[in-house]
Amino acid sequence: MRLIFLGPPGIGKGTVADRIKDKYNLTKISTGDLLRENVVNKTKLGIDAQEYMNQGKLVPDELVIKIVEEKLKGMNNYILDGFPRTIVQAQELKKFAKIDQVINFTAKDETIIDRLSGRRICPKCNTIYHIRNIPPKKPGICDKDGTKLIQREDDKPESIKKRLKVYQNQTKPLVAFYNKKNILVNVDTDKPLPEIVDNTINVIGLKR
Ligand code: AP5
Ligand code: MG
Repeated sequence: MRLIFLGPPGIGKGTVADRIKDKYNLTKISTGDLLRENVVNKTKLGIDAQEYMNQGKLVPDELVIKIVEEKLKGMNNYILDGFPRTIVQAQELKKFAKIDQVINFTAKDETIIDRLSGRRICPKCNTIYHIRNIPPKKPGICDKDGTKLIQREDDKPESIKKRLKVYQNQTKPLVAFYNKKNILVNVDTDKPLPEIVDNTINVIGLKR
């Protein structure tokens, strides 16, 4: 099963992917996580990408396409979280992967802004928390490995505004792009997380 999780920043793509991937043996491939790892490790890609990410802009297509193409070699069961994000990326993806389904997550703007501004992540294992909605057992500490949680550089108010605009201009056109191919389904995320997870599982038709 080859899936794309599509939707605006902060809607919960990563959170839902983490809750269904192991059960169904899917690998979550988050371009955001991959890029952030490169930033931390100060690779050439990380250095090139950092400025775009901090400002809430998209990293240039050619850089992102290269890492995804490399990553997908020999893989058949995955969730692409945060890729593609432009029509160019979607057209390139077609050349090296056959996607079965696109899940398009939707929510009200207020929900998205609340989720982004309260998000905290573990810089070591990438587990995603929210200070109120999905808090860790011990405030500020990752449940899994005890690492101190951080706020993403791009979760500051100015970057959030920019990212939502970038989504409208560059990523939202993908909804129509995949709709035309009859492989897109919508999942409303203005609901409690367990319900969203169940609805996602139902629409992708995975057996429970
Ligand atoms: P990326 O890391 O992909 O960020 P994004 O798409 O902006 O999405 P987010 O990770 O912010 O949100 P999400 O939908 O995963 O939500 P989450 O599960 O964390 O990309 C970052 C940057 O990298 C981009 O801006 C760009 O610069 C670059 N980049 C990445 N891919 C690229 C590409 N393909 N092309 C070019 N550039 C690229 O949840 C959010 C919060 O809500 C969390 O706190 C969570 O705990 C909480 N939450 C989730 N679900 C619920 C719920 N149901 N109820 C209550 N709270 C919830
Ligand atoms: Mg994410």
